[in-house]
Amino acid sequence: MNHIPVLLDEVLKMLNPMDGDKIIDATFGYGGHTEAILKASKCFVTAIDRDPTVKSRANDLKRVYGERFSFVPGKFADIIATLNGQYDKVLFDFGVSSMQLDVAERGFSFSKDGTLDMRMSCEGISAYEVINTYSETDLAEIIYNYGNEVHSRKIAKAIIESRNNNKIETTLQLHEIITSVFGYSKKHRKHSDIDVATKTFQAIRIYVNDELREIDTALHNLTKILNGNAIIATITFHALEDRIVKYWASSNAHFKPIVDGVITASAEEIKRNPRSRSAKLRGFIFNNTKL
Ligand SMILES: C[S@@+](CC[C@H](N)C(=O)[O-])C[C@H]1O[C@@H](n2cnc3c(N)ncnc32)[C@H](O)[C@@H]1O
Repeated sequence: MNHIPVLLDEVLKMLNPMDGDKIIDATFGYGGHTEAILKASKCFVTAIDRDPTVKSRANDLKRVYGERFSFVPGKFADIIATLNGQYDKVLFDFGVSSMQLDVAERGFSFSKDGTLDMRMSCEGISAYEVINTYSETDLAEIIYNYGNEVHSRKIAKAIIESRNNNKIETTLQLHEIITSVFGYSKKHRKHSDIDVATKTFQAIRIYVNDELREIDTALHNLTKILNGNAIIATITFHALEDRIVKYWASSNAHFKPIVDGVITASAEEIKRNPRSRSAKLRGFIFNNTKL
């Protein structure tokens, strides 16, 4: 399945691409936002993604848009720190893509059985190593801090007990261990339609990809690559991401919100693309005068 870009109309309205604009899409994914931006005006887009599997899609866009499109592989925090030039607009659409979730072997999802991996960059420490080698205390901390999971200690204990017998190899094995902690075999939390394993999987993924530090570092490095009145659009999918964006903006006098609070998906979009349910779009304008 291809990735359906979330809040696409709202992002276009916020960024308002103009001819000649230099725009960064820091989270290229399937390039849904990038392509719509390129179609909206004769602007230039520099797209970034750490996932090597998006390269062929980037090549397709390169063939169509030529010098107006360039793709830089790598982590957005590293790349933003080294970019030269002044940009007019930047988009961040944080988190995982549908393509990452859909490929079972990448291990992001418990809806399919796959090797525990979860690495967006396909390199570095994997979920398998975290789950099978970290101490009970470290696992509990990761699950609590990055998943807000109040049952983190029990889940960590169950992981250790299980791996004392056999290594935990797959997403479904991990899912079963987490489910066992809740004392009932149903997939769902009582009074909720969210799977009991969702928070733990989110936590391990955030840890493996160092996602929160990536966001914080990238946002703090923006000022040196922006033109005055540059617009920053951020789409977050959970409270930990959103908190970083809010804190960065509120503690940096150069950035002013351009919408009150957040923009969320319409009921119609959520029906068409359930992933948009938790999306929050924020927008900021950059004031480059000395304060
Ligand atoms: C939600 S998807 C973006 C989807 C895209 N907007 C579209 O319309 O197709 C997020 C993408 O950002 C990438 N990503 C996440 N964190 C990253 C980081 N720190 N550096 C570079 N890419 C990152 C992921 O690999 C994923 O492809």
